[in-house]
Amino acid sequence: MSNHSESLDRNLALELVRVTESAALAASRWMGRGDKNGADGAAVEAMRSALRMVAMDGIVVIGEGEKDEAPMLFNGERIGDGTPPKVDIAVDPIEGTTPTALGRGNALSVIALSESGTMFDPGPCVYMEKLAVGPEARGKVSLELTPTENIRAVAQAKGIPVREITAVILDRERHKELIDEVRQAGARIRLISDGDVAGAISAAWENSGADILMGIGGTPEGVVAAAALLSMGGEIQGRLWPRNAQERDAAIAAGYNIGKILHTEDLVRSENCFFAATGITDGELLNGVRFSSRGAVTQSLVMRSRSGTVRQIESHHRPDKLRRFVGVNL
Ligand code: FBP
Repeated sequence: MSNHSESLDRNLALELVRVTESAALAASRWMGRGDKNGADGAAVEAMRSALRMVAMDGIVVIGEGEKDEAPMLFNGERIGDGTPPKVDIAVDPIEGTTPTALGRGNALSVIALSESGTMFDPGPCVYMEKLAVGPEARGKVSLELTPTENIRAVAQAKGIPVREITAVILDRERHKELIDEVRQAGARIRLISDGDVAGAISAAWENSGADILMGIGGTPEGVVAAAALLSMGGEIQGRLWPRNAQERDAAIAAGYNIGKILHTEDLVRSENCFFAATGITDGELLNGVRFSSRGAVTQSLVMRSRSGTVRQIESHHRPDKLRRFVGVNL
């Protein structure tokens, strides 16, 4: 094992959860207040101060956008205390800003890390078509196939009839045809208002009630989901989906191959990547932040691809102590 990989093992596996916990705690204060920007700002700031304490030399590959518009966690920003290992970072302080602002389900705070130079940089590509499945159907589905064929393949791989398969699809006008076809195929559908990172993970998560994620969603979210699915032994495929000729031209000019199917290992080209997510609002995978007279409780997922270990962590936070200990105001 190289020193580089050893230090990745030593430093990062369980540290990231503190980062997503901080962001989720900060975001949860804004739940239902109807202010997406306020929530996002609080989560970004909390995530950034927690990240500063992590021993790593990280570069933000997927962040809050360009430097001029995002004062913190912008693409290209260096994060960590500057000591090895060198890593690529994808952050989504709030995956689901609308559900957070409206107090709806499935908002997460998410981060993914991989060895330096191994994370797909979405550049100007905002959306991609996605297909995500769990370990049983890995290698049996393809974006080259029709939705009906993919659903049949998942049913066969799982040894259950098509009518017992549930497809997770973002509830968007652009998915009308897809939804019609899936209904025609006889499968069940879970239409989600937001949050296709949770949707992709649920397709690979036992007993989540979901079997496949389909449809067009954010490219950054696809990369983040790939880090989780690598750890879970599932699969995600993506194909860039420019909304118009201008986006297509910008992507081509930047060197992207629009028609190419990007596999899990193209989105994160590393055997050693890490993923952490903490629930902000209640969802199928995780409870959101709960408050009581004793403090706050968070639920998180922590994953590491090399070992394939998936941990569920429930943390009990004591605002009084944290205020004195690290100056954090929960
Ligand atoms: P935000 O938290 O940035 O709002 O993203 C939420 C989300 O639902 C993602 O999970 C999904 O990939 C993307 O938005 C879909 O984009 P759109 O809402 O434009 O269809």
